[in-house]
Amino acid sequence: MKNKIIRFGVSLPKELVEKFDKFRKSKNYPTRSKAIGDLIREFLIKKEWEENKEIAGAITLIYNHHKRGVLDKVTDVQHDFPGLIISTQHIHLDEDNCLEIIAIRGNSKEAQRLRDKLRAIKGVKHVNLCMSSTGKEIE
Ligand code: NI
Repeated sequence: MKNKIIRFGVSLPKELVEKFDKFRKSKNYPTRSKAIGDLIREFLIKKEWEENKEIAGAITLIYNHHKRGVLDKVTDVQHDFPGLIISTQHIHLDEDNCLEIIAIRGNSKEAQRLRDKLRAIKGVKHVNLCMSSTGKEIE
């Protein structure tokens, strides 16, 4: 049955629970249940990525568009992944720097391959891959 809530008891060392509560409060989690649920989801998403499942997420990159060839290269690489990329947003941060946000859904290995290809482009200053989930398997 989906979305049914189950209560269960957990036995843990006192010190571990104290550390967990400190972490939970520092992150403003209202309850232990919400914090534990999120930790379990993080674990499941990590597994989805490791097991090459269908994933969703985003890649952000920062580059100087004045650097010769960088704009063409960033576009070329994205054209090699039409099945993975859902949309791309380009933001002009200042006179030189651009932020690009690439929304992705598909195979986790492909996503990492795209990240690595973007990272390898000369003139690209920073690339970050946000590893998230399609949401289907994490309730
Ligand atoms: Ni720009």
